[in-house]
Amino acid sequence: MDERFRSIVDSLKDTQDISKEDLAYLLECDGSDNEYLFEAARGVAETHFHKEIYLRGLIEFSNYCRNNCYYCGIRGGNLKAERYRLSEEEILSCCEIGEKIGFKTFVLQSGEDPYYTDELITDLIKKIKTAHPDCAVTLSIGEKSHESYQKFFDAGADRYLLRHETANEEHYSKLHPKSMSGAERKKCLFDLKKIGYQVGCGIMVGTPCQTVENIYEDIVFMKELQPHMIGIGPFIAHKDTPFKDEPDGSVDRTLRLLAILRLIFPKVLLPATTALGTADAMGREKGILAGANVMMPNLSPSNVRKKYLLYDGKICTGEEAAECNACLRGRVERIGFHVADSRGDHPDFIKQ
Ligand code: 5AD
Ligand code: FES
Repeated sequence: MDERFRSIVDSLKDTQDISKEDLAYLLECDGSDNEYLFEAARGVAETHFHKEIYLRGLIEFSNYCRNNCYYCGIRGGNLKAERYRLSEEEILSCCEIGEKIGFKTFVLQSGEDPYYTDELITDLIKKIKTAHPDCAVTLSIGEKSHESYQKFFDAGADRYLLRHETANEEHYSKLHPKSMSGAERKKCLFDLKKIGYQVGCGIMVGTPCQTVENIYEDIVFMKELQPHMIGIGPFIAHKDTPFKDEPDGSVDRTLRLLAILRLIFPKVLLPATTALGTADAMGREKGILAGANVMMPNLSPSNVRKKYLLYDGKICTGEEAAECNACLRGRVERIGFHVADSRGDHPDFIKQ
């Protein structure tokens, strides 16, 4: 085995830190020694999570979006996207089904859709928390004011997912139109953290123009933010976006980055994402074996799933909630892990 690879992994595990040069070495190597890195990451995950995998039921409740990110299939500018919104009743019925099949977290995700006013969202959160007091509510609805985030938190929301996409402002401007800024995104994340949410940031691996240097900056940013969750998956081109001809991100590099993040942030919640499962039929299992500890089965009504297409080829768009649940539980068990019964909060998280 390559001695430099081994020594970088050993030191990363000991110090929870990595230099830019060493990161480049791990990310750019040929992958033949991956297993050494993955085993180290798996060991750390096992120390804190004991082979438990947390499931989060994902409810994609609207694909309307006022933004126009160049990579995303539901960008406002994509006139081919067939738009839909779920009613409050429909969303509550997803939670009902979700609780029956054992989920303790509901992730409410949408494009940035102004139709859902703060009032609608707070009402919804209150209704979900009343009907399912043992469950966590995670929001993933984009950039909002501090005031709105505070209202949602006061209504009972527990967690918030908002990927920063890239910490480098120049790279950010290559992925987004001028109306959006990386600085604003970071401000939102710090606001969320200060309010008291468990916060998730994250990036795609292999977006156009992404360099190893950018990924290093992402790590520096994450060290500053200290997120509770980090969502990463490969970039996958969508045919009706400006990035339609761009190459997909590498699964192998995504797995290595997952493992590196597990070693830097031992207790962080790290999903094996749907994008990873789309890019590779065994991608989610490989993610867990590289240190991930969360999966996000789709809980959206099956008649809208094909419309929430962030990228081409997305898996699980033909299945029902119960099917994804059974499928994922099977996948988890076949690799020697098991699904947790708890809410799956961050190990250090204590709600005020
Ligand atoms: N490929 C992979 N992931 C994508 N996302 C959006 N578009 C794509 C794509 N084409 C990710 C973004 C966003 C999250 C909800 O989905 O990182 O934050
Ligand atoms: Fe949806 Fe496997 S997780 S079918």
